[in-house]
Amino acid sequence: MTEGASPTESSSANPGGLSSAVDSVEAVPPRPPLEIDVLTLFPNMLAGPLAESIPGRAQTRGLATIRVHDLRQWGLGRHKTVDDYTYGGGAGMVLRPEVVAAALAVLRRPDSTVILPDPGGDVFGQARAHDLAERRHLIILCPRYEGVDERIRSMIDLELSIGDYVLSGGEIPALVFIDTILRLLPGAIDSESIAEESFTAGLLEYPQYTRPAEFEGVTVPAILTSGHHEAVRKWRLKEALRRTVARRPELLQGRVLTKEESKLMAELRAEAPAANRAVEGPVPSDS
Ligand code: ADE
Repeated sequence: MTEGASPTESSSANPGGLSSAVDSVEAVPPRPPLEIDVLTLFPNMLAGPLAESIPGRAQTRGLATIRVHDLRQWGLGRHKTVDDYTYGGGAGMVLRPEVVAAALAVLRRPDSTVILPDPGGDVFGQARAHDLAERRHLIILCPRYEGVDERIRSMIDLELSIGDYVLSGGEIPALVFIDTILRLLPGAIDSESIAEESFTAGLLEYPQYTRPAEFEGVTVPAILTSGHHEAVRKWRLKEALRRTVARRPELLQGRVLTKEESKLMAELRAEAPAANRAVEGPVPSDS
């Protein structure tokens, strides 16, 4: 996926005459900022990533307001306790329900969506990100320890997983959600990037090149330096299809191909299998 980069992410050069919309001023969208409250025991884990790049810019542009709260302020007693042992015995501590109830009593509004990052939740994806980008107020509760008291789940609107692996807390999933959502807010990235993204929506990204034109004997495909915009567009779509077929064929299931995509797929099928293998190396298994 292409996106408008911050100055530190972009080269000052402009290879192949690619247009640079990095500093273009987007129209201010006629909608209130998306508000996000994050509840965490480790606020510092979020500060850096949220201040940088597109998330940082989305906030300075007024597209989103993010508040990170230390959950411990709602902790119990003199020691501000937030967790306790698990009934029935077992290792690890569990987040107490009163702590979360107290925090939500302050933060929750009628238009809030309360999200719990949890490996057992629905798998977060681009469609969910689009849905959440339309909401007015998100509250993300980041659990630590062994998890949350089961009674907390009734306070939650949405449990979301970022994949089949177990992280040590909800902060990294929260950052994944926020980053993915913020870049979808109108005005967060340049409109050219959005147009590029929508033309290959649901496909893996096509290969990209920058200078030098030749690196260690590997040259940039000639079509990309030809200046023929329509040919470049077609090449990119075909390569996005090639990569998707090779690496994530399930993404194409249920996708209604345009006439152009069907034609490009037929071309890909007609190519020698070896040519496709040469482009796509083997993908390591997840086991
Ligand atoms: N917390 C721990 N692991 C997680 C995962 N994979 N997704 C969301 N939240 C988590």
